[in-house]
Amino acid sequence: MEISTMWRSRVLRRCLLVIVLFGICGHFLWQNFSGRDHNENIKGNLYEFTKDTNNSDKDRIKPDIPILLWWDSVYTDVDEIRQCGDKMCRITNNKQLRHHPDTSVFLFYGSKFKPFNLPLPRKPHHLWALMHEESPRNAYILSHHPALTIFNFTSTYSRRTDYPITLQWLPCPDWLHDKTYMLPLVDKNRLRNLGLAPILYIQSDCDVPSDRDSFVKQLQRYIPIDSYGTCINNKKMDKKLRFHDNMAPLEDENFYRFAARYKFTLAMENYVCDDYITEKVWRPLRLGSVPIMFSAPNIWEYMPSNKSAINIVDFEDIEDLADYIHLLDNNDKLYKQYLSYKNEKLENKHLKQILEHRDWISPTCNTRKYSINKSDFFTKKHPSIFSGYECFLCNKVHEIYGSNFEKTFQAEATHYGCPSPRKFDIQGHYSIHDDRWAAEWNYGKYEAEAMLKMYRENLVMSEKDYYKYVKKVMRTTDSY
Ligand SMILES: *[C@@H]1O[C@H](CO)[C@@H](O)[C@H](O)[C@H]1NC(C)=O
Ligand SMILES: *[C@@H]1O[C@H](CO)[C@@H](O)[C@H](O)[C@H]1NC(C)=O
Ligand SMILES: *[C@@H]1O[C@H](CO)[C@@H](O)[C@H](O)[C@H]1NC(C)=O
Ligand SMILES: *[C@@H]1O[C@H](CO)[C@@H](O)[C@H](O)[C@H]1NC(C)=O
Repeated sequence: MEISTMWRSRVLRRCLLVIVLFGICGHFLWQNFSGRDHNENIKGNLYEFTKDTNNSDKDRIKPDIPILLWWDSVYTDVDEIRQCGDKMCRITNNKQLRHHPDTSVFLFYGSKFKPFNLPLPRKPHHLWALMHEESPRNAYILSHHPALTIFNFTSTYSRRTDYPITLQWLPCPDWLHDKTYMLPLVDKNRLRNLGLAPILYIQSDCDVPSDRDSFVKQLQRYIPIDSYGTCINNKKMDKKLRFHDNMAPLEDENFYRFAARYKFTLAMENYVCDDYITEKVWRPLRLGSVPIMFSAPNIWEYMPSNKSAINIVDFEDIEDLADYIHLLDNNDKLYKQYLSYKNEKLENKHLKQILEHRDWISPTCNTRKYSINKSDFFTKKHPSIFSGYECFLCNKVHEIYGSNFEKTFQAEATHYGCPSPRKFDIQGHYSIHDDRWAAEWNYGKYEAEAMLKMYRENLVMSEKDYYKYVKKVMRTTDSY
């Protein structure tokens, strides 16, 4: 053997040894630090990065198990193969998979959405999907058209979205007929005579775009309201019922019994936008306390019947509303009409239809369920809005990739599009321009513009640079 060959083979062996050692160490470290137990079948693919980015969509081969990658994630950790009907997808938030050839969908969670941290450059076959189930005030940027245009699919409370979750806070239809916590009217009247106010208000989030506290303060001038939260507080909560800002304790048996004693409950959202309806409305309906609502402008489309709640915007002014509440409070026959939906079949056909056709349901019929129990996925209904949307997207990917991208999908402003918040005037009309919230809403508009510019130019920025960029866009863009 020649010297040089020997030398070469020795070097080669050493190199190999080093590589193998590195591999073992790397594997070991990964096992130790990842804390995850990846599915054996997919392990081989985990770090396979591809160089091919130039294939046109038409040449793409549909992956057997497309990857749906949560980019701004709602989960701390997820990586699993999901069966969605007869299709399969891998749901993960492992960002290392962003260049994997099977990565097909990027999911963005609205409340954690970072406009400066998009997975750019975007490959032509990448589908982007937004999910935002929270209040519009958590992401003003999404109320603006430019922000929505980068997504192919959306799931929000809006009925116009691809996967509407308008009734997410009505976990199961039985709530509407449930009488478990309902108190007979004689008992409610007895409690009234003992000094209980007719109306319950509980809110600990006081400074919100819907300006609800101003309204409550004015209504209090005409009619007693027991307010237990930190906002406009005038009553002390029983120690064992003490709750915090956090909503969880409000979904508690003891609290249900406590709240069901009130004839009326103020049900006011923190943001007023079509189709945005929360548990604030559904809970009193469940408990048999008539909701006095300030909710979605189209709230009547979703109420069990035309006489199941009171909507503050249906009244001439605040005095008119107070008169009506007094009237119901003093007239058992009229009041009872507002609870008749409990004994009748759902009068609202639209509501009935949505409830029957939605493909998710809370297995506990209690609150929305975020946690994911894998065995639930094999049933027809999904245990949460998240798993439902993931499967919706999984099926879409199979459909789109399988048909060579014949159809295109693009989200638009109507999938979200909430108006700028206002303030109540002295008569209780939600009509006054509100500088402060309008400024935030407007800022969202510039954020959206800046994001779209960045997106188009394939710029990835630091957070700080992005906000500088937003300022620049603010200076150079005409407001619309
Ligand atoms: C992809 O296309 C670009 C420009 O069209 C080219 O510069 C690049 O080399 C291509 N990459 C591969 C891997 O073919
Ligand atoms: C309820 O109100 C809506 C809108 O005002 C009306 O179209 C509908 O017919 C009413 N339903 C019943 C059963 O009265
Ligand atoms: C998951 O669901 C199955 C069937 O519904 C149930 O038997 C099991 O206890 C659940 N597991 C957890 C951790 O909730
Ligand atoms: C997804 O959205 C992007 C950006 O609007 C678009 O270029 C692409 O064609 C869309 N894909 C599909 C399959 O609709």
